[in-house]
Amino acid sequence: MDTNTRKPFKYIARTYARFNLEIVRGYGTRLWDKDGREYLDFTSGIAVCSLGHCNPAVVDAVREQAGKLFHVSNLYWTEPQLKVASMLVENSCADRVFFCNSGAESVEAAIKLARKYGHDTRGPDCYEVITLQDSFHGRTLAAITATGQPVYQRGFEPLPAGFTHVPRNDIRSLKLATGKRTAAIMLEPIQGEGGVRPLDDAYLNAARDLADRTGALLIFDEIQVGMGRTGTLFAYEQTPVKPDVICLAKGLANGLPIGAMLARESVMEHLGPGSHASTFGANPVACAAAGAVLDQLLHTDILEKVKDTGKYLHDRLAEVCRGWPAIRETRGRGLIQAVEFSVPQPNLANWLIQEGFLTLVANGRILRLLPPFVIEKKEIDTFIQALERYRAESGS
Ligand SMILES: Cc1ncc(COP(=O)(O)O)c(C=O)c1O
Repeated sequence: MDTNTRKPFKYIARTYARFNLEIVRGYGTRLWDKDGREYLDFTSGIAVCSLGHCNPAVVDAVREQAGKLFHVSNLYWTEPQLKVASMLVENSCADRVFFCNSGAESVEAAIKLARKYGHDTRGPDCYEVITLQDSFHGRTLAAITATGQPVYQRGFEPLPAGFTHVPRNDIRSLKLATGKRTAAIMLEPIQGEGGVRPLDDAYLNAARDLADRTGALLIFDEIQVGMGRTGTLFAYEQTPVKPDVICLAKGLANGLPIGAMLARESVMEHLGPGSHASTFGANPVACAAAGAVLDQLLHTDILEKVKDTGKYLHDRLAEVCRGWPAIRETRGRGLIQAVEFSVPQPNLANWLIQEGFLTLVANGRILRLLPPFVIEKKEIDTFIQALERYRAESGS
């Protein structure tokens, strides 16, 4: 599994336990390694290349922009960022956009906005951010502290103050934790890294209500589940609530680094000139890619296809897993689906690679599937057949 000892891999930091694969090319749902082997990708580069690898419209937009203008900084306006911002705002409950380069930066910006808003509206003691156990919000110091998984925090102490974690879907604990110090409640509408766990509507309603009653902000981290992954542009559209702040990244530019933090006007106005910045934020090439992504999400039937193939994947997984004693549950929405095993499956991901499928495994026993939106039902069928072979071979 680990290629850390092979030249020239010795030059790369050992922060990832990588598979022994060197990918050289991608198109649509397919990737090819340096020996020419083909793989069906059920990861989309961890929810990034959602419209398929080397999506032609995105490639064209990037080529055209790269020949015109790479970068000018945020001292000036550029057309690509204005286009993306207007498309995000016109199709969401937000009024303004702050651009950055990754999910963690977007979360960091949301935390800073929540603190500033708390300071300005309710005083300096209002700085706490409540998040959920098993959540994942990224790898900066503030983001790992927001993340409700001690494994990401251990050894990096002292962690920034002002974060509280509560159990998922437990309204009572959220009520007890929310008070005059609470600047924000930050939630993933469906926990991604934590194992594809949706939040209940009743819980989201309670969070919205508590935020409204205390003056805290409701932040949705849609970095993994936004940009069409669940079948609507934003995941919140399939919930009964609207957040005050939305964090985006991953699928927004289909493979180029970008992040965005969206907020209502009355909230975003608390970040004035000089209060926050990013040199590369709103990079014209990344924004050109994002514009081409949004054009397809908003002006084609791709979101309907996500709903349809998502349901097909969900149903086929449920069918194959029914009567398979090692499976505890299948769950998901749109094209983020999971199969939870009752015991760890340490060989599953490598076994699937040998069969020509790239997948993600969370916590050792949750198979997480995030295929590109262009996946065909017959491609899903080949994967289901592989799972059946795995069952037969593993004797589980
Ligand atoms: C919900 C969520 N938030 C934040 C992040 C961090 O994003 P990035 O790796 O781009 O910093 C991730 C990444 O997996 C995520 O899934």
